[in-house]
Amino acid sequence: MDVISVIRTKRDRKELTPAQIDWVIDAYTNGTVADEQMSALAMAILLNGMTRPEIARWTAAMINSGERMDFSSLTRPTADKHSTGGVGDKITLPLAPLVAACGAAVPQLSGRGLGHTGGTLDKLESIPGWRALLSNAEMLDVLNSTGAVICAAGDGLAPADKKLYALRDVTGTVEAVPLIASSIMSKKIAEGTGSLVLDVKAGSGAFMKTEADARELAETMVGLGNDHGVRTVALLTDMATPLGRTAGNALEVRESVEVLAGGGPADVVELTLALAREMLDAAGLRDADPAKALADGSAMDVWRRMIAAQGGDPDADLPVAREQQIVAAASDGVLTRLDAYDVGVAAWRLGAGRARKEDPVQAAAGVELHAKPGDPVKAGQPLLTLHTDTPDRFDYALEALDSAYDIGPAGAEFSARPIVLDR
Ligand code: URA
Repeated sequence: MDVISVIRTKRDRKELTPAQIDWVIDAYTNGTVADEQMSALAMAILLNGMTRPEIARWTAAMINSGERMDFSSLTRPTADKHSTGGVGDKITLPLAPLVAACGAAVPQLSGRGLGHTGGTLDKLESIPGWRALLSNAEMLDVLNSTGAVICAAGDGLAPADKKLYALRDVTGTVEAVPLIASSIMSKKIAEGTGSLVLDVKAGSGAFMKTEADARELAETMVGLGNDHGVRTVALLTDMATPLGRTAGNALEVRESVEVLAGGGPADVVELTLALAREMLDAAGLRDADPAKALADGSAMDVWRRMIAAQGGDPDADLPVAREQQIVAAASDGVLTRLDAYDVGVAAWRLGAGRARKEDPVQAAAGVELHAKPGDPVKAGQPLLTLHTDTPDRFDYALEALDSAYDIGPAGAEFSARPIVLDR
């Protein structure tokens, strides 16, 4: 087998054979195929697509590039969720302890933010002492003792994806359904969860801007999961507007704790409960009542134990940014649009996100929203507060917000998009 013939096959819009796929994934993982050759193949896949059988084989080859985790020693059924990423998407933080409080084991391998979308691990690292890196044995220990664990995937899990994802990120080849679906599902299947709920986002703040593209991604991933024996369902959810009232690491932890305390923004609570019901259903725990577990403090109790088991202090004060700047409404009326992508870029520019993998993030940086679409606003009223430790970033962040919102006339008709668009 040689790599040029594999690249030519896809360049010429032909189907890759199972042998070609197995060989190229293995050869890329062990270094025989060079980055420039794999980028040519990734671009050919982005431009020419893959058939479902090709995607299935590509995913299986990525799973086989590393180890598989084994949760068979757990007495509880396992349930996991994965979001395709968005702005203000802190749902994993309240969701994992909530679902654990209802009787499932939740092994939540999460990632860091890159670009305008936030990462669960960056958010949790704003809690003093909390550790994202656990050995497999430590992960199982936390899972056994608290019911939930949120941590980084170990190096042994789908190493082909680790290499390929980093390459796609710098070669303009992220936004391809076959590559996104196989990347996400290879990690989730290798992780060994029994059931999986996918939160596939559609809108300006998501990878998939249109509902049609998000639906194609969701259907592809659900097919891959079920074919590998993981009970998989997907919700299509809105990412045209940021979720909740914060985008940024410590800001989002604070909001998640409010949800666990029985409060928090209505959209975050609604999506957390919708995903919890799906996870519990997929895990066979149909009688569990997640709304009760939020209201009676049992989800909060799991959160506190889970944070402490990973070295964090659940009572510690979270970092607060040194500088704040308010963005005020320009006129009276009704806020009719607040763009998720623009808010995500502003939070990133304020220091909440990173431009390169190795960059540090500011724990306290981000954007706080004082109004959501549908709310009446008055000229001069604060719409957003920008938070950063480095005030020279304000102008750059404000540029991203130039056309981030629309205010319609007072009393204007406004119909909100639902959070859950489809199942
Ligand atoms: N998340 C992943 O893990 N992989 C992708 O390709 C995109 C989002």
